[in-house]
Amino acid sequence: MTDQRRLLVTSALPYANGAIHLGHMLEHIQTDIFVRFQRMQGHECIYVCADDVHGTAVMLNADAAGQDPLAYTLAITEEHKADFGAFDISHDWYDTTHSSENRELANTIYERLRDSDNIRKSDVAQLFDAEKSLFLADRFVLGNCPNCRAPDQYGDNCDACGATYAATDLINPISKFSGAVPEVKTSEHIFFALSRHTEFLTHWTQSGALHPAVTNKLAEWLESGLQDWDISRDAPYFGFEIPDEPGKYFYVWLDAPIGYMSACLQYCNANGLAFEDFWRPDSKAEVHHFIGKDIINFHALFWPAMLHVADFRTPTKVHAHGFLTVNGEKMSKSKGTFINARTYLDVLPAGYLRYYFASKLNSSVADLDLNLEDFVQKVNVDLVGKVANIASRCAGFINKQFEGQIRRSTGTPLLATFQSAAHEISEYYETLEYSKAMRVIMSLADQANQFIAEQQPWQLIKQAETRDQAEAVCADGINLFRLLALYLKPVLPSFAEQSEAFLNVPPLIWEDHKQLLEDHSISPFKALIERIDTAQVEAILTKERANADPAASEPVWPSTPATIDIDTFAAVDLRVARIIKAEAVAGADKLLALTLDVGDHERTVFSGIKSAYRPEDLKGKFTVLVANLAPRKMKFGTSEGMVLAAGPGGEEIFLIHPDAGAKPGMKVS
Ligand code: MSP
Ligand code: ZN
Repeated sequence: MTDQRRLLVTSALPYANGAIHLGHMLEHIQTDIFVRFQRMQGHECIYVCADDVHGTAVMLNADAAGQDPLAYTLAITEEHKADFGAFDISHDWYDTTHSSENRELANTIYERLRDSDNIRKSDVAQLFDAEKSLFLADRFVLGNCPNCRAPDQYGDNCDACGATYAATDLINPISKFSGAVPEVKTSEHIFFALSRHTEFLTHWTQSGALHPAVTNKLAEWLESGLQDWDISRDAPYFGFEIPDEPGKYFYVWLDAPIGYMSACLQYCNANGLAFEDFWRPDSKAEVHHFIGKDIINFHALFWPAMLHVADFRTPTKVHAHGFLTVNGEKMSKSKGTFINARTYLDVLPAGYLRYYFASKLNSSVADLDLNLEDFVQKVNVDLVGKVANIASRCAGFINKQFEGQIRRSTGTPLLATFQSAAHEISEYYETLEYSKAMRVIMSLADQANQFIAEQQPWQLIKQAETRDQAEAVCADGINLFRLLALYLKPVLPSFAEQSEAFLNVPPLIWEDHKQLLEDHSISPFKALIERIDTAQVEAILTKERANADPAASEPVWPSTPATIDIDTFAAVDLRVARIIKAEAVAGADKLLALTLDVGDHERTVFSGIKSAYRPEDLKGKFTVLVANLAPRKMKFGTSEGMVLAAGPGGEEIFLIHPDAGAKPGMKVS
């Protein structure tokens, strides 16, 4: 075996101002697979994380909840830990950034920056909400874009034209908190002299710690020169006060990465290890950070520069992944695709998603799509149909006909093929090419199934003279299954554990691929994994839609609508109608009253589309009316029919528009 390595591994620290969602899970699953693989290899691998609890957003959320920030975040941290645990994420330590260890380390690092003359001060003019006595971070001011004048833009960049600017340049700014017009106020800020370390960073970013695509991206920044980094925020702020600077707090992004160190320190203290062995400049231990692409500059510029100046070691690797999309789009609350970890777990076991992510992950920063149909398909075809199927096909015979004994082999070369695949698979795990590892494993599973199908043990077992051969085929099948469970163990720890119980073996480690089961008795077989269906996935989305909009607790329509016959359909009288007038209905939040021209007469219809349409925009538009729907008396008047619309609700309701050329009263079929 290769020399034992020592690794400290981290995932980015989730903010303690919301639930863990599947985007976070993508990162923790990617990290956890790496960690479990290293441990199976016999390396010492410590995986730490924490909640990132500081900053304005957390402070204001706590305030809104009427709680003190610490109490507010402690409850969230407990939820986060439970969610990660249920997803089989094997953190060795999980704390928060508001710990005494983190405060001390942040102070130490700051003092080393200061004492080596890497701290400077200068005045910063910022928008200030006098009503709340609060300096406004960029995301807490709205105004017109100074470039294109688009309304409701944040203080950092414009969604409409893409321009970037200072918050103080916004036209007609208002505070998101109080609605007050902010004033410009100047205060002294503390800066880390990052610009001086451009040369060090140019060298460091090319040292092999980053994916080449990330190095190239950062080279653009480095070439245009780095700015010094503002590391202070004025009170009130939830964070650590800066030593000897009353009323000034460390910006959350200063002490957040130091949280990696303090979680490591706490783990070392609890386990009798030396923290310095991980963090002194000449440490032989490896430090691996897993992060999303949105926080690369914090981890690959600010963080290594800080560590370097403060005389600590720099990271061995910063692994950046892309963003999770669902069904090809950014996760959306109203569509139910902003999926919280807990909502998923209420419906499905963690292993399915762990496998799906593994089957799509690689070492690049490309975004990764959770396509829900593909998800159902992959789980059923690969895990149920290919892998678990081998065990269930063979275990029955071994247990019922052959005393549960593995004692013969056909001598098939497949056994050696499976064993020698260990090397290639381990390379893929090590380099984060999980999708390639999964592909190799599934092609092995295909070969095992083909072997069993060709040998037909269910036929062989019928004749006395081929009974031994049937036994040998099934015993080989069990051995092949054992190797698949071993190779999948970093991804599917629970599945591997159940398999170990059925195989009657101690916890599998990577070395175990070198041996096969011989003269070994297995335990009774229990089904290892169940098929899933689209209704379960639909249930997850339905729950999330209900969370986003409690009124929409029913799916827009059931996933498999009951069919109607052609006569029932023909009985529905659909007509083109022109909207002559549209107005809000006093006392009804969701309704618009539409006056419709249906060709030979006019009608009034109430429609729940107010969240998506402004009345003035509808005037003159065509739509489709269910003309023979029985009139319905409502609180506001009688609705004479119904107009057709589609969409999940909220802003996403779309009136059905007939094409140009349609005339009021025309029949739709
Ligand atoms: N608190 C900071 C990180 C501090 S690390 C010293 C933060 N928190 S976060 O909660 O916003 O994000 C935590 C991690 O989750 C980040 O790596 C981020 O990239 C990742 N993701 C958040 N949403 C994501 C997706 N939709 N998809 C994939 N990862 C995403 O940033
Ligand atoms: Zn603009």
